[in-house]
Amino acid sequence: MVQKSLIIVKPDALQRNLLGEIIHRFERKGLKLIGLKMIAIDDLKIEEHYEHHKDKPFFAGLKKFMQSSPVVCMVLEGYEAIDAIRLIVGPTMGRAADAGSIRGDFAMSVQYNIIHASDSDENAKAEVARFFNEDELFDYQKIDFDMIYGDDER
Ligand code: RTP
Ligand code: MG
Repeated sequence: MVQKSLIIVKPDALQRNLLGEIIHRFERKGLKLIGLKMIAIDDLKIEEHYEHHKDKPFFAGLKKFMQSSPVVCMVLEGYEAIDAIRLIVGPTMGRAADAGSIRGDFAMSVQYNIIHASDSDENAKAEVARFFNEDELFDYQKIDFDMIYGDDER
């Protein structure tokens, strides 16, 4: 199934000059970039995006961190892209993430963990709609498509 996933490159990644490195990893994997922008996340979007954490003791700190600089949002597309991207990203705790994953290579923290990626199809749909308008998402052909997926996968 073709899926879209919402990526947020967090303030720690921008401060540490890792934006290009992160985009490069997704490009090389064969994921298709269909949306990209820099934004300041407002209070409402943070509260919706981290709704599942809003009563946790670390929520105020998480909100302050996510608003400490702009972030870069992306939508990536591919077959079973959500799980494929979570593997590239690694688990929440940076110091427990496998080397080779983004968090495994660049993070030591649970909060300063470089990147957000959608974790289910349902959440991805809501997150993409939260951060991107329809006219900010692009439907286009990529010439490498036939070399990224086999005949029986397309
Ligand atoms: P994300 O949503 O950002 O991709 O991260 P995730 O799925 O791996 O982890 P999730 O449980 O959804 O947590 C969202 C973000 O909240 C911060 N966090 N801090 N201080 C803490 O114990 C704590 N726990 C979570 C992290 O920035 C985490 O990515
Ligand atoms: Mg999450």
